[in-house]
Amino acid sequence: MRIVSIGAGPAGLYFSLLMKKADPAHDIRVVERNRADDTFGFGVVFSDATLENVAEADRESHAEITGHFAHWDDIDIHYRGEVLTSTGHGFAGMSRQLLLDILQRRCAALGVRVEFQREVGDLSAYADADLVLAADGVNSVVRSRYAEHFRPQVDWRPNKFVWLGTTFPYPAFTFLFKESAHGLWRVHAYRYDASMSTFILETTEETWRRAGLDQADEDQTLAFCERLFAEELQGHRLLKNRSLWRSFPTVRNGCWHHRNVVLVGDAAHTAHFSIGSGTKLAIEDAIALARALQRHGEVEKALAAYEEDRRPEVERLQRAAQVSLEWFEETERYHGRLEPIQFAMSLLTRSLRVTHDNLKLRDPGFVATVDRWYASQAEQQSRVAMPAAPPPPPMFTPFRLRDMLLSNRIVVSPMCQYSAEDGTPGDWHLVNLGSRAVGGAALVIAEMTDVSREGRITPGCTGMYKPEHLAAWKRIVDFVHAASPARIALQLAHAGRKGSTRRLWEGIDEPLADGNWPLISASALPYHPHSQVPKAMDRGDMDAVRDQFVRAARMAEQAGFDMLELHGAHGYLLASFISPLTNVRTDEYGGALVNRMRFPLEVFDAVRAVWPRQKPVSVKISATDWAEGGLSAEDAVNLARILREHGCDIVTVSTGQTVPDQKPVYGRLYQTPFSDRIRYEAGIPTMTVGSIASYDDVNSILAAGRADLCVLARGHLYDPYWTRHAAYEQGWDLPWPDQYVSVKSFTPRRD
Ligand SMILES: Cc1cc2nc3c(=O)[nH]c(=O)nc-3n(C[C@H](O)[C@H](O)[C@H](O)COP(=O)(O)OP(=O)(O)OC[C@H]3O[C@@H](n4cnc5c(N)ncnc54)[C@H](O)[C@@H]3O)c2cc1C
Ligand SMILES: Cc1cc2nc3c(=O)[nH]c(=O)nc-3n(C[C@H](O)[C@H](O)[C@H](O)COP(=O)(O)O)c2cc1C
Repeated sequence: MRIVSIGAGPAGLYFSLLMKKADPAHDIRVVERNRADDTFGFGVVFSDATLENVAEADRESHAEITGHFAHWDDIDIHYRGEVLTSTGHGFAGMSRQLLLDILQRRCAALGVRVEFQREVGDLSAYADADLVLAADGVNSVVRSRYAEHFRPQVDWRPNKFVWLGTTFPYPAFTFLFKESAHGLWRVHAYRYDASMSTFILETTEETWRRAGLDQADEDQTLAFCERLFAEELQGHRLLKNRSLWRSFPTVRNGCWHHRNVVLVGDAAHTAHFSIGSGTKLAIEDAIALARALQRHGEVEKALAAYEEDRRPEVERLQRAAQVSLEWFEETERYHGRLEPIQFAMSLLTRSLRVTHDNLKLRDPGFVATVDRWYASQAEQQSRVAMPAAPPPPPMFTPFRLRDMLLSNRIVVSPMCQYSAEDGTPGDWHLVNLGSRAVGGAALVIAEMTDVSREGRITPGCTGMYKPEHLAAWKRIVDFVHAASPARIALQLAHAGRKGSTRRLWEGIDEPLADGNWPLISASALPYHPHSQVPKAMDRGDMDAVRDQFVRAARMAEQAGFDMLELHGAHGYLLASFISPLTNVRTDEYGGALVNRMRFPLEVFDAVRAVWPRQKPVSVKISATDWAEGGLSAEDAVNLARILREHGCDIVTVSTGQTVPDQKPVYGRLYQTPFSDRIRYEAGIPTMTVGSIASYDDVNSILAAGRADLCVLARGHLYDPYWTRHAAYEQGWDLPWPDQYVSVKSFTPRRD
């Protein structure tokens, strides 16, 4: 096979040596624009896990690489005069030049031809190759040449960074945060040989401009940084090597291969340096591609198999890298606001790959400090004494909202059951909510319950508009209070334009086949093109709906509910006013956010006025519409701030479901970053909801300050006793009801 690699970075060299090793008959050329000893940057980082792949693929280069490692286990975080250390992380660093030297030597030994100082502009010289490897890095010319096939997207991130070196041998992977008159600076530093460290300085564009670095050449940058970090560098120098200020591009491609041309490494994808994985990804691509070619005889088939194999892993890592880079773009949100231990926890768990549990395995002492600190905060907030030792896991700390005291941080999310008769909840609801209260959650929020018959989503939805409803709900509330320490809230709503539809299992958001009722909404826009067109509400409709909410709130109080939640999310009536996609009014209820909020706030204020002062009210919001022209995360912060000013006690941060053509970006805890942002920027407690799947998620979210309460919906359908089981797993004693005390002598077997 005739193979040409454009680029002699880690991807091109490693792939070439693997292929040559597999079959010495391959004719392999690597074409590189630079000289052999010409590299930009200083060190690269590997995690222990990456090295296992390398060991398996080529023992010879693995031995040489690991022989040159600077190894460390600690992460040091320098924050406001303190250094916090977390141990057990297992990283290794080495010089990028040395890595390339090793790979070049290995290529030469195996008979790969590496041609330096040869710039590739035109691919016609390689027309006779069976395979062309686009290993030409982040600004790949091959990718540009076939852009219509690869469909690249390059997302230029706003922060500025510069890659420097230093003779200061950092003893740990070091994050350094420093404020100057210009703003906040972040440093990512790590040692890569006995005497040298990489020193990446990052800041926001505003701070960078304020410091005049937009006008600075390399030497001026160096002088500036040495002055700024004189104390930390303890007399050591910073070093440059084509150290230009850059913005980080996140590269993605719609497709990674075209005929016999294939993208690998940075040409195919990038992942922010804060998770230190660009070289790892490049090498893993090389391994996967070499394997696919050995497995499939035909090149095109092999390239498709390579992409199919690698893409999910790469996308997972890019999602983690995205959350991580956003953390560094938004560090001002946390810096100075968080106490050192929580700042460290927020930093360490930023990509949601490192969690409370795996930090506990790596460094139990660190996590015990976090838990003790968290418990002391909970003690102050809730005015409930905590056991001295051991500290409870964060999820088992109490939380207070007005006079409502929650015994832990787990909430059952409201979930429509579509099983009511003209709005009246029955035995199903009693068992459904009752068992989840007995299951240990501190707060159970009853499903979206509508303030009028016409306000229902489906004929099976619960309501609070008839006297029978009050009695039926009271039966459930009384059971919950009698059988468990759980508190119970009611979610009040009006379905708006998403009403008069079928039950979930008959076709969600699809209009009823018959028996439809007229709809109202902020504007006369149907949900689907084939949905009923709602009436745009006039003032009379608004008065009527507001009064229905007030009536329902009064009934909820008589039924004994502990809290109310107003449903301002998911495109229902109140949300239809908030989102610019569903509110196109030209009167004082449309236009800017403050206008769009006017009617939902009227409802909120009217409900708050009749709801007892000692009981809390929450509002569930969609923090983004996931659609062009829709509500943004910034709007959501303003929205939450306005709600706080009106006496809202806590916001449940959900997203989307406003329009059917939304494009959500799903992923692990994908809604939690919105909660984090709102909690800090709007200064209001939050409940986070969405894909919370483990108690470890919960502890990580809470300890890092990303929310005050964690809300699980489907998790509670799967397991009504979710909180009890989480307590068991963590060795936490959650008292059982008297009827169930025998369970204490039962041990579930897992094998
Ligand atoms: C500030 C910073 C810090 C980083 N830190 C780390 C880290 O700690 N750990 C880590 O794993 N990764 C890190 N990376 C990422 C890492 O450098 C890359 O992800 C990795 O080198 C990708 O390997 P590659 O082979 O795909 O591309 P590259 O290493 O970029 O190699 C591409 C090669 O192609 C050559 N080339 C390009 N165009 C042409 C052409 N037209 N003709 C001929 N030759 C061409 C280039 O000269 C280059 O040698 C960091 C990156 C940055 C910017
Ligand atoms: C069957 C079902 C019914 C739901 N009904 C409601 C509801 O009545 N009110 C509401 O705010 N959200 C409702 N949701 C959304 C959930 O409360 C929650 O926001 C969402 O499912 C994400 O959480 P999860 O990933 O833990 O399931 C419902 C979800 C499900 C699965």
